[in-house]
Amino acid sequence: MWIFGYGSLTWKVDFPYQQRVVGYIKGYARRFWQPGRVVTLVPSKDPEEKVWGVAYKISEEKQEEVMAHLDHREKDGYQRTPVTFFPQEAALKPWELIIYLGSETNPFYTGPAKEDEIAQIIASAAGPSGSNKEYLFQLAQTMRSLNINDNHLYSIENKVKSIIENINQKT
Ligand code: BEZ
Repeated sequence: MWIFGYGSLTWKVDFPYQQRVVGYIKGYARRFWQPGRVVTLVPSKDPEEKVWGVAYKISEEKQEEVMAHLDHREKDGYQRTPVTFFPQEAALKPWELIIYLGSETNPFYTGPAKEDEIAQIIASAAGPSGSNKEYLFQLAQTMRSLNINDNHLYSIENKVKSIIENINQKT
């Protein structure tokens, strides 16, 4: 079984895996529409829209344990869906994996919001897993290190940095 990491799973891997492959899925967008503000995947109007991330191969004997761990870590707010994964390495062929998405029907889903509003929340919010801005900066840093372009992510990162600079100038 393969699982797709597109948020904290791209840098915080606290379960056993056999292989890690960088690549993308199509027909989705990465959005900060889960409270906290953390990212989820939302279906895109453009079937060719890509979300880059990292696929992890889980051995058969660890599958149940890893899924239970992720359900707990993500507070049961996500549903699992199979999609095609396209590896970055041209020599590899696409294969099917599982994505976790915080759908509109889950009780934690916040729905669409403007980037400015999201940035304001991220600049000041903290949750049980730490500060929201550290999550954003870590995600943006990880995507940059993988040479991945994500306009929504980098735009929110810039907005949060400006908000923080403004706050620091006033104090
Ligand atoms: C993530 O990348 O943040 C993630 C992936 C799978 C399940 C939950 C979260």
